[in-house]
Amino acid sequence: MPKTVDNLMKMFTSGSESSIRYRVFAEAADKEGHSNAAKIFRAIATAKMFHALSHFRAANFVDSTTENLKQALEEETYDCKNGYPSMIQDAVADAALEARHSLEYGMSIGPVITRFISSAIGNPDADEGGCYYVCPVCGNIEFGQPPAKCPFCGVDATDFVEVA
Ligand SMILES: [Fe+2]
Repeated sequence: MPKTVDNLMKMFTSGSESSIRYRVFAEAADKEGHSNAAKIFRAIATAKMFHALSHFRAANFVDSTTENLKQALEEETYDCKNGYPSMIQDAVADAALEARHSLEYGMSIGPVITRFISSAIGNPDADEGGCYYVCPVCGNIEFGQPPAKCPFCGVDATDFVEVA
């Protein structure tokens, strides 16, 4: 089944990317006043997300929660240490200010992400009663309640997305 797993992972990657791309296309359509096209993009984005979820499950790469947390920690640590720094340098060299900010947010939030993952590896059932709050601009994550202003990008508490 190696060929099938490879095919599933190719379509998982493609579907995941399409899902995000179509959400951004929907935002652009909304800004242009094309609400129906925006709805279509959001519907397709949702379908692509479900496809990606199904493909990944079928590829059978889901392990125990502890092992999944360890994998996530490895991925996120790698991105922070080996991915973002050189990419930010490239964005600076290209004078790509928006790209630089986007990449810097990703790198800045890396330690927040790895802190939550590390904590969950030690005790995956801690803090079961609370919610997480995610900043829609920089991706900062807070537990319990959002800050009055995001310490990384200044977004108001009311804009944070609650994740239960
Ligand atoms: Fe933020």
